[in-house]
Amino acid sequence: MPEARKEQWASQRGFLLAALGSAVGLGNVWRFSYVAGENGGGAFLLVYLAMILLVGAPLLLGEFALGRSTQRESASALHALAPGSRWGRIGLLGVLASGLILAYYAVIAGWVLRYLGLYLTNATHELASVGYAMAFGSYVTQPLQPLAWQLLAMALTMLVIVKGVEQGIEKISLVLMPTLALLLLALTIYSATLPGFARGAAFLFQPDWSALLRPEVYLAALGQAFFSIGLAMGVMVTYGSYQPGTRHLPRAALTIAAGDTLFAVAAGLVVFPAVFSFGLDPAQGPGLAFAVLPEVFARMPGGTLVGSAFFLLLAIAALTSMVSLLEVPVAWAIQRHGWTRRQACLRLGALIYLVGLPASLGFGVLSGVRTPSGLGILDSLDYLAVELLLPLNGLLLAVFIGWLWPAADAMRASDLGHSRLGRLWRALLRYVAPVLIGLILLGNLWPG
Ligand code: PHE
Repeated sequence: MPEARKEQWASQRGFLLAALGSAVGLGNVWRFSYVAGENGGGAFLLVYLAMILLVGAPLLLGEFALGRSTQRESASALHALAPGSRWGRIGLLGVLASGLILAYYAVIAGWVLRYLGLYLTNATHELASVGYAMAFGSYVTQPLQPLAWQLLAMALTMLVIVKGVEQGIEKISLVLMPTLALLLLALTIYSATLPGFARGAAFLFQPDWSALLRPEVYLAALGQAFFSIGLAMGVMVTYGSYQPGTRHLPRAALTIAAGDTLFAVAAGLVVFPAVFSFGLDPAQGPGLAFAVLPEVFARMPGGTLVGSAFFLLLAIAALTSMVSLLEVPVAWAIQRHGWTRRQACLRLGALIYLVGLPASLGFGVLSGVRTPSGLGILDSLDYLAVELLLPLNGLLLAVFIGWLWPAADAMRASDLGHSRLGRLWRALLRYVAPVLIGLILLGNLWPG
């Protein structure tokens, strides 16, 4: 197999920010706020934190350890540890899931870029004249414009990936992630001055205990935790494989799990107070960011600036996540099939864009294409990837790491060794994660 010079992160900071960039994405703002809104706010947050601690962080550490100890991208990593067995194929699920997610993620990233454009050029009166919800609704049904913005989102992602790990992913993460943090901080501070801040914060932090009795809250929380950290998609194995051997992984895994959660909570503190301050409803579904928030921005002082900052934040968050999603299939094509990075980036980027076309058109000309339960194309892809492939792949990974990877090797690879923490980590992956993820998978397969 032609082996190009092994690509690596140049610094630990670069690795951390790139992994955090992958984790922090549309999921933290656009997805977290509506999933939390629909699942009872505070109770959801509590269950979500439990899922991160019990399953999310341990599995994240496991993925880093798999990647770093084999120094291979996600599909080859398992092949290397279990040569000749079928387990090697699990890695392919990650390659598939990341490509699928990227296909429809780029559609939403396209909407973000278009809204960013409107705010930056102060052209939001276009939206105001028809009403924000209507404007968003009619925008997504257009055939061509959204496809052009989606193409721009993919093209930007490809531009980063073609430059490689250190010159592309690491470089932009070092610049964009601190920018993202500053934007979010500024928006959170502004949000604290709004009249609805207390209500928004209460919505997010005050648990409604009765929600703990609703099984769908648990399903939603684990699904969101997986999506938000970016687990079971090969990303963290692949990013871990660019780590040189010497650095401490548990701290990295905890930093990223905690950082991702912090970003989600801070985003919630931006979104909910704004929504409550203007008497709107938080449980608005995916349209929250595009239909409800622009309305909020229009009514607040300095709204155009706030709107610009908000959509810039979303655009940065989306780009650093898309980059990681494209890197998974690209690294696979380079390492398993001997393509050059350029070929892999162009071919796979184009393919993924094509797969994403129907997801965009599903809101307009293809809106008749629906599942029996009424899901459109984008939502079906999201369902397939997030509710089926992710838990399935996550379950298999947890079983692989907890049961098949010899204990001594796994604990050494995780940097925890035979400490009490090492045993706890392995026990979580061996017993707790498979049971929880298995239940979620069953719940998703047989809803209701
Ligand atoms: N974690 C990203 C988000 O929250 C999305 C993502 C999923 C990125 C899977 C990489 C892998 O939006």
